[in-house]
Amino acid sequence: MEQQSIQREEWNSKLGFILAAVGSAVGLGNLWGFAYRSSQGGGAAFVLLYIFVVLVVGIPIFVAEFSLGRSTNTSAVLAPIKAAGKKWSALGFLFLIAPLAIASYYAVIMGWTADIFFQSLIVGLPETTSQAGELFNLIHNGTRDFVGQIFSLVLAFYIVSGGIRRGIEKLNKICMPILFIILLGLVIWAAFLGNAGEGYRNFLFNFDLSQLANPTTIRNAFSQAFFSLSLGIGIMITYASYLNKKNDLTKQAVQIASLDTAVGLMAGLITFPIIFTFGLNETISNSTIATLFITIPSGLGQYGLIGRLVAILFFGLAYIAAITSLISLIEIPVSALIDKFKIKRNRASGITIIFIFLLGIPSALSTDLLGDIDAIANVLLILGGFLVSFLIGWVIPKTLDKELTNSGSSLLTRNYLKFMLKYVTPVLVAWGLIISVYDLLKG
Ligand code: TRP
Repeated sequence: MEQQSIQREEWNSKLGFILAAVGSAVGLGNLWGFAYRSSQGGGAAFVLLYIFVVLVVGIPIFVAEFSLGRSTNTSAVLAPIKAAGKKWSALGFLFLIAPLAIASYYAVIMGWTADIFFQSLIVGLPETTSQAGELFNLIHNGTRDFVGQIFSLVLAFYIVSGGIRRGIEKLNKICMPILFIILLGLVIWAAFLGNAGEGYRNFLFNFDLSQLANPTTIRNAFSQAFFSLSLGIGIMITYASYLNKKNDLTKQAVQIASLDTAVGLMAGLITFPIIFTFGLNETISNSTIATLFITIPSGLGQYGLIGRLVAILFFGLAYIAAITSLISLIEIPVSALIDKFKIKRNRASGITIIFIFLLGIPSALSTDLLGDIDAIANVLLILGGFLVSFLIGWVIPKTLDKELTNSGSSLLTRNYLKFMLKYVTPVLVAWGLIISVYDLLKG
């Protein structure tokens, strides 16, 4: 026991941890999910509901996961048992299944992203929506899929097997600043597009109040919040298990959630002007994935050389955002294998990657299956979030108190979070979970 905690890795710096957590949170979910769901769910009504969920559910669960990870000093799969006994092993099991499921199709989508990136770099962009559709068919059918998927998994293997400091932390320290610079540049570029105003209006200022009572919009807001913040799955537990005792958990939860939400909003400020300037609003109603992989390339394809350059930047950015997320998903099973069986990081990473590749084959073969796995995994996240808030709020509230005191939180913050995690967050998540399951089964 002693020896294990001495050997366990630790982040090099506080900034390194924050960037890694932001790197996990900021991913394809922000770039494609947020804007798409907002366009489906009444624009501003969805955005407001989303922000409400982040504040009332997301931030307290962040703190709960951080406390659980740091206090147990072990990976998410084992943390619930270590904290609350064998009865909680089911939660650990959930933290094994959900990241494997998400990583399996995430790597496939990353393959498409890399494909379009190289397509814009080397060949050029399609000029009409139907050409873009054909290109996308070509990309996601047959063997081309597997090339991108394997490429992404091998890259992730290389990083994760490098360890916490030399792999994950280092990658995020390089990638996150680049990502923010490209993002900001693209937001400014998009603001000068002909119909930018129309795009903003549809994204943010079209307030359809009736959407707040629509179960699909409610499910979307909860799913999007959990998926985008990487919550309910054990990532933040695992990342926090490599933290030392000095970090202020609450402050970091607020910072990470704010940065993640900002990126979602900024992505919308890029995609909506493109969509409305090039008259593509019809195509986005078809599917989530189409928005990114059909609409955006065909919109930019109408814009000559500049459009091509923007496509290279946009898909490059998406790939950077995605790789920092994929490695966080992979780190959960990897750290569990290391903690449980004391095997070498290299071997644990290899086993995990091969398993994820096999699990991803159905998603690579069928986008419908991919969509189904995504929908189910999203509901599992909400379930995970409910169980974590219940565990921390009701079963081991002292752990929360101790961790917050260690972080130097004020009495007010401590009482606020204890109150939220006991009476507010679990109740709201349970409500979101019931509506989501109902909506999922209905669909
Ligand atoms: N948050 C990432 C995104 O928005 C994806 C991701 C990484 C994720 N880790 C996760 C989603 C854990 C759910 C749970 O794309």
